[in-house]
Amino acid sequence: MAKDATKTLPTHHTASLPPQHIVDLFKVCFDPELYKNEQDVLSAAIQSVKTDLYNRDYPAAFNSFEKRTAYCTRWSPSRAIAYASLFSQLRPVREVIKCEKESSSSSNVLCVGGGAGGELIGIASIFTPSIDFNAKYATTKSAVQSKRLTVKLVDIADWSAVVDRLKGTMRDVWLFDHSSDLDVQSLNLNVLKTGASDLGVPSLDLITLLFTTNELFMEDKAGSIRFFQMLNKECSSGCYLLIAESAGSYSHITVGTKKFPIQFLIDTLLLGKRGEESEGQWELVDQNDSIWYRAKDDMDYPLKVENMRFFYRLYRKK
Ligand SMILES: C[S@@+](CC[C@H](N)C(=O)[O-])C[C@H]1O[C@@H](n2cnc3c(N)ncnc32)[C@H](O)[C@@H]1O
Repeated sequence: MAKDATKTLPTHHTASLPPQHIVDLFKVCFDPELYKNEQDVLSAAIQSVKTDLYNRDYPAAFNSFEKRTAYCTRWSPSRAIAYASLFSQLRPVREVIKCEKESSSSSNVLCVGGGAGGELIGIASIFTPSIDFNAKYATTKSAVQSKRLTVKLVDIADWSAVVDRLKGTMRDVWLFDHSSDLDVQSLNLNVLKTGASDLGVPSLDLITLLFTTNELFMEDKAGSIRFFQMLNKECSSGCYLLIAESAGSYSHITVGTKKFPIQFLIDTLLLGKRGEESEGQWELVDQNDSIWYRAKDDMDYPLKVENMRFFYRLYRKK
């Protein structure tokens, strides 16, 4: 076996808009903070978020309007380009986003902990090129049927101001008069204390939990286990669940006296205990315990664009 088994995602998958277009959307959206008179406030807020993230004090990292804007300008562009590549690479995820299911031309996605917009822009970068912008000139009935992608961003922090700005910029630079094809809803809720029907769980085609699972378990282990059990019970057959988190010891969890990778616990909750997998509610469709996304060196963005190494799991409800 190769010494370094870590794989690398393609910098750009053809199903999505190119990474520079994705990053350009953030440049347009946050022009006042990145290029104009709000630069000093942004730099101070980024430093403050960095310290909170280093100390793993997540509630503090997102506890003010300035810090949420800072996270979105500094970290969401890197996340969005990595997610665009990951979502495109995973065929079932790509098909949900492009509303290419056999039975319907609409899809429902829930992004847990997705308030900061990285997932949203990654999704929109795949949805946008799948739209037929000439459809209104078409004459056949099938050609005029437009797609409808609903993306709910549920987050304990109130990211609505940031999401509204991203929505406005997407409308102006990507979606134009197809902006209503992408219905984006911000839900400011603690996902561990919200019922399945308030999250619309039974009608979901895809749930993402990206760089959020660790945080949920740090907040409330028992509540997080109940959340996964709720998904076992309430998700409809065919729903996909995508989980990604930092690869390595950062994502280890302590239960009793033992420390182990968090994905082992999630696998047990969703797939069933080892040897009893047939009892589990989900099947594992794809996985990687250590994968890189590396941005091109020549990305044009005024702040650092991060490379990411993470594990992911894609499950499908039986
Ligand atoms: C580390 S950030 C990751 C953000 C984003 N998913 C990304 O990849 O950039 C974790 C997010 O989860 C949210 N979060 C933490 N606990 C939550 C909870 N109990 N319910 C809903 N959202 C939560 C935080 O507010 C934050 O936006």
